Amino acid sequence: MSTLIDGKALAEELRGEVGLEAAALLQRHGRAPGLAAVLVGEDAASQVYVRNKHKACQQAGLHSEVFRLPSDCPRERLLALVDLLNADPAFDGILVQLPLPAHLNEQEVLERIRPDKDVDGFHPINVGRVLAGLPGAFAPATPAGIVELLRRSGIPTAGAHVVVLGRSNIVGKPLASLLMQKGPGADATVTVCHSRSRELADHCRRADILVAAIGRARFVSADMVKEGAVVVDVGINRIEDPTAPKGSRLVGDVDFDAVAPRCRAITPVPGGVGPMTIAMLLKNTVESARRRLEGPR
Ligand code: GUN
Repeated sequence: MSTLIDGKALAEELRGEVGLEAAALLQRHGRAPGLAAVLVGEDAASQVYVRNKHKACQQAGLHSEVFRLPSDCPRERLLALVDLLNADPAFDGILVQLPLPAHLNEQEVLERIRPDKDVDGFHPINVGRVLAGLPGAFAPATPAGIVELLRRSGIPTAGAHVVVLGRSNIVGKPLASLLMQKGPGADATVTVCHSRSRELADHCRRADILVAAIGRARFVSADMVKEGAVVVDVGINRIEDPTAPKGSRLVGDVDFDAVAPRCRAITPVPGGVGPMTIAMLLKNTVESARRRLEGPR
């Protein structure tokens, strides 16, 4: 039987470390690291994510403020807010929660954020730095959280064949960049597959570590997983379930019950990658504050 990777416990450990560093910065410089979260509109999932990020900041002793704008907010008003936050020394990190309402150009907004406050790692400068393996890059929180989760679970990546299922800018592409880098927690052989890949199941079966980030409920079946593989499930899909208290429940991109018995280790949904993502956002914010207050390491 496989090991269940407890992302919640690992994230708590990491948040504790981040909290200690935030407290040390507060003591040395008289201010806590600060995160500004911008939420435009009423998207239900985004509201939950932003609330969770805000709560996690407060618990770790970071300064956090949420800036809410209406769903019909004009482009100029959102850009003006980003400019204000860029210039505000109380904030080391700025995140604009995605998706934005359709009339707003996400790329334009993301590129307006100062790269040295872009703790989400979505600005092209940081995307490029991550790909090139340069110091000072902010890696997006989800892929960085996956690397950290593997490291803290004692799962070696050096020389391992990692198959990443999904090619998004938020998870698949940056995760491939991080894992193929030279150095600890990386040095992997990476294959990136997606919905248009031929012989998808064959690729997946060759994985020592399979990362499912394709956005389809229970897409990965038992026959797609090699015996003894490690499976990381990034999916968050709400499915109807009349037996669940709310009539629906969250499932990942992996058919957990069928796949788990084959694996060496597997992450659950919820309680796997999700909590690590938030912890890594806090880590990026504290790192941004440290650089701002104390210069590069
Ligand atoms: N929407 C989904 N994931 C993310 C994320 O990591 N950051 C932001 N800003 N928006 C998201």
